[in-house]
Amino acid sequence: PQPGWTAQADVIVVGSGIAGLTTALRLRQRVDRVLLVTKTVLSEGSTLWAQGGIAAALDPADSPEDHLRDTLVAGVGICDVDAVRALVTEGPQRVRELVALGAEFDRDAEGEIKLTREGGHHRDRIAHAGGDATGREISRALIAALHRVQDDPGIEVVEHALVVDLLLDAGGRACGVTLHVIGEGQRDGVGAARARAVVLATGGLGQVYAATTNPSVATGDGLAAALRAGAEVADVEFVQFHPTVLWLGAGSTGQQPLISEAVRGEGAFLVDRDGVRFMEGRHPLADLAPRDVVARAIAERMRETREDHVYLDARHLGREFLEERFPTIVARCRELGFDPATELLPVAPAEHYASGGVRTDLHGRSSVEGLYACGEVSCTGVHGANRLASNSLLEGLVFAHRIADDLSARLSAGELPPVPPGQAGRPPGAAALLPHTSRVDVQAAMTAGAGAVRTAESLRHTAIALTALADQSLDDGVGAPEPGPQSWETTNLLHVGQVLTSLAARREETRGGHVRDDFPEAVDAWRGNQRATRGRDGVV
Ligand code: SIN
Repeated sequence: PQPGWTAQADVIVVGSGIAGLTTALRLRQRVDRVLLVTKTVLSEGSTLWAQGGIAAALDPADSPEDHLRDTLVAGVGICDVDAVRALVTEGPQRVRELVALGAEFDRDAEGEIKLTREGGHHRDRIAHAGGDATGREISRALIAALHRVQDDPGIEVVEHALVVDLLLDAGGRACGVTLHVIGEGQRDGVGAARARAVVLATGGLGQVYAATTNPSVATGDGLAAALRAGAEVADVEFVQFHPTVLWLGAGSTGQQPLISEAVRGEGAFLVDRDGVRFMEGRHPLADLAPRDVVARAIAERMRETREDHVYLDARHLGREFLEERFPTIVARCRELGFDPATELLPVAPAEHYASGGVRTDLHGRSSVEGLYACGEVSCTGVHGANRLASNSLLEGLVFAHRIADDLSARLSAGELPPVPPGQAGRPPGAAALLPHTSRVDVQAAMTAGAGAVRTAESLRHTAIALTALADQSLDDGVGAPEPGPQSWETTNLLHVGQVLTSLAARREETRGGHVRDDFPEAVDAWRGNQRATRGRDGVV
């Protein structure tokens, strides 16, 4: 596409992880024109980095009911039970369909899909591929399926295009997107695409913090665009910090190397600098307690030992097993100078997953008519205050099907109006742009006060710092940034940071991924979901 280009489709799908690709592929079976837009290339995004696997009750000894129970416990009282029920009952069939599509999961000697365990699961129910490269295989299979239909004029893929804002029609319905085409060797430019509905599948927001397991593209673009369009968001304060991220020294920023929970699932355990297994006696599942419990225990142990990391001991698993079962992790560790077969691995929690997002119903519909959200950008209610391990790929898969089915039924029933002619549709009120150099300032403010452990005071400081950055961007004098993908990403991080900080300040308790030092217990009165929209509590 050239700068200034326009396009039209029945549905625009934004994002090309498991959620976006599945939605687009299934939609195309029933809808005439699907436009799939992605910020860089099809394969880039969080799905590619998923290690552990995808959870589903595939073992005859397991059941959706057991999976439901584990998911609700991990979510600490605020999951939407109906959404979880849909996830766990439809999950096994969706995984089988993924296999039929070409995804190759690891198998045992009898040819059955191998299943492992991760934190919070009482059964082996995590299917994996390539040992620890599950996301890579799923992404490969879905992109291959897309290429098989690439001659199909009904599905158009646009890479290197950042969706900036949603277009709204006179009735406030989503009817398209504005986007910034990232030119290669030519001038960047803006464009617009119009459609009867838009599905956001843009992934997470990890880059709002200085250190995260998320790739650099995870800048909360869909969440920020939805907020600016007036959509309701929920549970955004529940950020999951993964307990075992390879510790590369104080001040290491950007995407950090994940050591999958599956390594503990296969028998590795945490120790402190004195060799004490501090998870024992802390929770009945010890090292395989739900992720928030382990992350909190590590934070406490770090505080007690005045160290900025603890250790993961996988040495007893043996070189041969480690290399075969976790080839990606072992290779990355070695690149960075660590050998898990002979050494303790220094690990510390880092941002990993946004449990909240754009609030949706069971069909993925947001509060803005015509706008859907799927995968990490959404808040379907399945994760509550803390996502159960390996439920994220599953959520993308299950809800992509639900969205495609809902949308195709509504489109054929004429429930969603036709694409508005010409230039109809306007973006919501313009946001002042932040220069891309402010990205580190947003990350520093968020990490200092709204990270793994928060207090009223720390959140207040973060809110003040973010407001100062926002005010700076309103000064229309010298230094106003050129609109471009990097300044948009930075502005999105600011908007996401603001809503996260605001919801975290309001929730005066500790629950799941939201840890308040000044309110260290869960409080019954807070057993509910917080919602926010643009304009409330100084958000955006
Ligand atoms: C991991 O492999 O530990 C991450 C899995 C997940 O985030 O669900």
